[in-house]
Formats: sequence, structure tokens, C-alpha cells
Amino acid sequence: MILAASTQQTVGMVLAVIVMVGFVVYLLFSFRIGKREIGSEIDLPANRRTHADDDELETRLLDRSLGWSLVTLTAISLILPMYWLMEPARQENAAIDWVDRFETKGGRAFEEACSGCHGPGGVGGVAAFTIVDPDGQFVAQVEWKAPALTTVLSRFTEEEVHHILDYGRPGTPMPAWGLPGGGPLTTQQVEQLVVFLRSIQLDQAATTAQIDSGLRAGTRRIVTSADPSLAGTDAVDDAVDAWLAQASDPASSDYPAYGELLFTNPAAQGANSCARCHTPGFSYGATDVASTAELLATWPRLAESGILTGWLPGTGHVGPDLSGVDGHFATSRRQAEFVTTGSELGVGFGNARSGSGGMPGFGGRVDDLDVVGVVERSRILTPEQIDAIVAYERSL
Ligand code: HEC
Ligand code: HEC
Repeated sequence: MILAASTQQTVGMVLAVIVMVGFVVYLLFSFRIGKREIGSEIDLPANRRTHADDDELETRLLDRSLGWSLVTLTAISLILPMYWLMEPARQENAAIDWVDRFETKGGRAFEEACSGCHGPGGVGGVAAFTIVDPDGQFVAQVEWKAPALTTVLSRFTEEEVHHILDYGRPGTPMPAWGLPGGGPLTTQQVEQLVVFLRSIQLDQAATTAQIDSGLRAGTRRIVTSADPSLAGTDAVDDAVDAWLAQASDPASSDYPAYGELLFTNPAAQGANSCARCHTPGFSYGATDVASTAELLATWPRLAESGILTGWLPGTGHVGPDLSGVDGHFATSRRQAEFVTTGSELGVGFGNARSGSGGMPGFGGRVDDLDVVGVVERSRILTPEQIDAIVAYERSL
């Protein structure tokens, strides 16, 4: 404990020990000297007795004064090192207190400003959104999925989230919230929201369960369309297990289909999918051939304006078109590394491109936060799952 103490605490500790030792030495000496004085024979003049005689002055009264000085001195000499001992903890608690206050304020702001779209506690929701063409003409009225924010700090750094909150995502329902992007919130209020987001991040088990639930939902569709008699029976779970076990093997002919299921993972309103940023219309219902056709039939202006022209997986929306991505990443390994970490503002990736920070990382992150310390964020995808997605992307 002493070894782990800060300089301040060590100094405090040494002071306390010196005071204690000094006090014990003082007591020993004063007892010995005090004993010698017993029996002193001083005659006291009567005229001095009216108030207090010398005997009383020099014994009881003097002792009382000295006693009180001793008490005060002891108090001061104990309180001073105590102050040195407690101050670092007090400072730390004060800082933690501020983080708590930020979290509470951020939580209140979140329920007011964000939960309408992102769901209470950030579990994901939908936003009604009017799509307009570049001339501002009405194109379609859609329900745009607002991703769950319960793994957002696994994908992005706090700085990147701060940036998203400042500027929003142009072209999507996510508005700009910070003053720099023309929104109403100060830097501190945005920071409070980020601190609140820390408190709703899922642990590793819950994150993995979220990915698995989306993966299994997609697999269930595959196995029941291959064998409709499985639908609604208990055997379907076994069939799902069996399909996943063989499809996740890189040698399997179902390997690209497995990668595609991860690419389009619908869990948590698509929060952990790739398609919501890399496939046109995916966030507002264009999730396969049939649903895209339906959307286009309902809103013909989508195709006319060129905003959504068909089911074009991986051809880009918030993120770039991934067809031909193998020309940009020389090897699958380098592409998998990029998907693991995401992009970083100003840092190059692939053959020759500069990152914007907009591409999330899927392999987990570590935050070294002031006051709070080191926090390991949950990994969204395993290295094997990222390899499968990369194989799918390179087949596009
Ligand atoms: C009008 C609906 C709406 C409101 C209100 C809203 N958001 Fe969003 N937000 C969205 C949508 C939709 C997206 C996804 C956009 C896309 O498709 O890329 C999004 C994306 C985000 C992202 C990026 C997540 C990711 O993984 O890509 C963050 C972070 C975020 N919102 C935080 C907030 C916070 C915090 C608030 C409250 C201050 C808020 N949002 C308010 C609709 C909304
Ligand atoms: C929140 C939106 C978003 C999500 C979700 C997303 N990406 Fe991206 N992606 C981007 C952006 C933006 C870029 C461009 C990089 C930049 O500007 O920093 C990008 C770039 C890429 C690139 C490089 C393309 C090139 O030609 O340089 C690859 C590969 C990629 N993403 C794969 C994925 C995979 C795989 C997933 C899912 C596991 C995914 N992305 C999820 C936004 C996203």
C-alpha cells in the first residue's frame, strides 16, 4: 500500500510517523521531569492568593494552558499529515463526481433529444424521414433505422462520436447537434452525451449475443427456405447450428453467404452491420431483392432521381462502393486489418486513400480515459468473422 502511494501520500505518511514518535518521546520525558518536581516547597505570599497563587499558576493553570496548547498542537500536527494523506483521494473523488454529474446530465439530454429515434437507453429505433433530391423535390417518405448506440464506443473513438454528434450524418435523419455543425448543443453538452453513452455500452457477452441473434435470424431464413418443413419446428435450431458450423469454414461453398449474413446483420437495428453504410437503401427497407422492388414500386421517384435504382449490395451509401475493393487492398489480410480498426482521420489506408474516421472498427478498442482509467470496449466481430466478411466483399 505504501509502495503504491503517491508522493503526496508518502510525504504525509513520513510526517505522521515523525509526529507520533516525537509525541511518544515528549510524553516519556515529561513524565520523568514531572516526577522530579513533586514536593517542591515554595511559600506563597498571602496577597497573591486572591486570584490564584503561584502554586496554582505554575501548576494547575500553567498545566491547563500547556495542556490546551498540547491538544491544539497535536490536532494541528495530526490534521496536517491527514490532509496530505486524504487530499489525493479527495481530488480523485471530486473528478469522479464530475464524471457522474456529466453522465446524469447526458442521460437526461439523451432521453429528451435522442431516444425518440434511438430508443430509450439507446437500444435502437426508427426515424420518419423524407428523402428529397438535390433540387429539394420530394422523393419518398421512409422509416429509417436508427442504430442501437449500445456498441457505438466499440466501433468509434469518443472523439469520432463527438464529431458525429457535432455534425450529424448529412443525407440521413441524424441531425447535427453541436454548435460547430449548426446544432443547439455546446461542446460540454455534447461531451455529457458521450459520457452518458459510456454507461450504456454492452459487455462482451451481450455484444456477442447480439451478433449471434442477427446471424441466427438470417440463417433461419436460409435453412427454412431450403427445407420449408423445418419452419416452426424444434429441429430448426439444430439445422441453424449445423449450417453455421459448416458455412463458417473458409473451404465451404456457403462461406460467402456466411460473410453476407454478417455484412447485413439486422440485430440492434443494423448497428453492427456493414450494409447500412455500404448498401443503398438498406437502412430504410431495401434489405433484399423483393423488399427493394416493393420500395421502388411504392416510391417511383427513388429510381427516377437515381437515389435507389435496385438491389445493389455493397455499392455504397454513407461509405464507398465496395465493388472492386480488391483492387484497393492488395491482400485480404490488409483489408481485414482495416475492417478491424476502421479508419482514422488523416491516416492513410488501402493503396492510397486518406481516412475520415467515418469507417467504424469491428475488432474492439481500448480507451484510456482521464479519471476513469483504462476501459476495454467489447469486440464486435471475431477475426474469423471479419475474414468471412472480407471474403464476401472481395466476391462482390
Ligand atoms: C431524427 C432521428 C434522430 C435523432 C433525434 C437522433 N439521431 Fe442519431 N442517428 C439517427 C439515424 C437514422 C442514424 C443512422 C444514420 C445512418 O444511416 O448512417 C443515427 C446515427 C447516430 C450515431 C452514429 C452511430 C453509428 O454507429 O453509426 C450516433 C453516435 C448518434 N446517432 C447519436 C445520437 C445522439 C446522441 C442523439 C441525441 C443528441 C441522436 N443521435 C439523435 C437518427 C437520429
Ligand atoms: C457508419 C458507416 C459504416 C459502417 C457501418 C461500415 N462502414 Fe466501411 N466505410 C465507411 C466509410 C465512411 C468508409 C470510407 C473510409 C473513410 O472515409 O475513412 C468506409 C470504407 C470501407 C472500406 C474501404 C473501401 C475502399 O475502397 O477503400 C472497406 C473495405 C469497408 N469500409 C468495409 C466495411 C465492412 C466490412 C463493414 C462491416 C463490418 C463496414 N465497412 C461498415 C463507413 C462505414
